[in-house]
Amino acid sequence: MKSPRLGVNIDHVATIRNARGEKYPSPLRAALLAQKFGANSITIHLREDRRHIKDQDLREIKKKLKIPLNLEMAPTKEMLKISLKYEPRYVCIVPEKRSEITTEGGLNLKKNSNLIKKIIKTLKKKKIRTSLFIEPNIKDIKIAKKIQADCIEIHTGKICNLHNKKKRTKSEFKKIQKSVSFANNIGLEVHAGHGITFSSAKLLSKIRGIKEFNIGHFLIGESIFIGIKDCIKEFKKILAK
Ligand code: PXP
Repeated sequence: MKSPRLGVNIDHVATIRNARGEKYPSPLRAALLAQKFGANSITIHLREDRRHIKDQDLREIKKKLKIPLNLEMAPTKEMLKISLKYEPRYVCIVPEKRSEITTEGGLNLKKNSNLIKKIIKTLKKKKIRTSLFIEPNIKDIKIAKKIQADCIEIHTGKICNLHNKKKRTKSEFKKIQKSVSFANNIGLEVHAGHGITFSSAKLLSKIRGIKEFNIGHFLIGESIFIGIKDCIKEFKKILAK
């Protein structure tokens, strides 16, 4: 069986840069290094408030990157316009609240399905692969299929949190496992992401059928200590099991 792909999210290189308003560390440099050391794609989240990645980063990374660029974006007119302008290979639609520290939960597909359906249809015309960031539940997976998303990305924040706190993960693990096989059975490609560390990646790698993992915060943080090359190597080794 083929190993899952690793998408490296470099948002937090921009967070560090923006903390001082300097030009370094450069998200482009991080993207190119991650590419060199085996990342299968690069993920960036262009937030409405531009708190980390800026439009200029998107422009530069899109221009220089050879592996697929995965743009995470909120389902808004502004973001649709930007994605049509830059044509990343992949788009992952995520919910966004200004006050949150990070993407705190999955999309509310029941409430937003008409708008998201339109966005998916428009992106598909440009051959952009679409993914929806959702909680592991069957109801949302059915809606994702109905509105013709290519993939779903399961929010792994809850299980990673429980795992970090050494709490029981069994019930959340089963929920994810069930969601992955249900989605695969109805023809959706499944990805996973949020809060993943080396240790929680080991746990999640036991779930068969996840084709792509998108990992950012821990990976960028750990790279300070062991370097981005070894960090990517270690994640790829864990996920290949
Ligand atoms: N996948 C999606 C859809 C996300 O929104 C994020 C966070 O931006 C990630 C993956 C990566 O999460 P983390 O930075 O916690 O690894």
